[in-house]
Amino acid sequence: MKITYLGHSALVVEEGSFKGIIDPFISGNPSSIASVEGLKNITHVFVTHGHGDHLGDAVEIARNNNSLIIANAEICAYLNRFKVRTHSMHIGGRYRFDFGTVKMTTALHGSGITDGGNIICGGNPCGFVIEVAGRKIYHAGDTGLTLDMNLLEDENIDAAFLPIGGNYTMDIDDAVKAARFVKAKVTVPIHYNTFGVIAADPADFLNKAKGLDVVILGINESMNL
Ligand code: NI
Ligand code: MN
Repeated sequence: MKITYLGHSALVVEEGSFKGIIDPFISGNPSSIASVEGLKNITHVFVTHGHGDHLGDAVEIARNNNSLIIANAEICAYLNRFKVRTHSMHIGGRYRFDFGTVKMTTALHGSGITDGGNIICGGNPCGFVIEVAGRKIYHAGDTGLTLDMNLLEDENIDAAFLPIGGNYTMDIDDAVKAARFVKAKVTVPIHYNTFGVIAADPADFLNKAKGLDVVILGINESMNL
């Protein structure tokens, strides 16, 4: 499995013919060096919640690639107006797709969708546990620290992607606690430095997460699992 970090919370996950993108915030992302048009053969788009920096370019990517969008029921209901293919799930649910399994996990956050001047209900925010070809990743979405993350230890996660930027989500100290709950083989910090308000030094996270295997990915940098 190859995972590429596109900045903020956006990841591309590739394994065989599966090519998923999680939280595709590309065109509006000041730290992104990817282009929406450059994203080819995307089979699935995962959206953790309705905020613009996560829903991002999901519709355009899904239209360009005929991708299936996987999100909560409220976000999928909202996306139906754009005539894209969706698969709705909800927190606690797991489903077996042709590529592997997806479980939707809790996140403590908001999920409102900004549409013109209105905020549309985007249901509850979530994270994803995605298993493909025997490799399992956890993308926490935007969340505060929760004791529930302890439960993820039983999932035997290979790589956990945790927000560290603070203000809207866990900061570094809370993300270290989360990483110790999840006990993934590798932990990767995300959701930092995109904007001034979420400035954080990933090296600080690495230093504080003593005893844990931490990988810091640069923008457009890949790792293999
Ligand atoms: Ni958010
Ligand atoms: Mn966010």
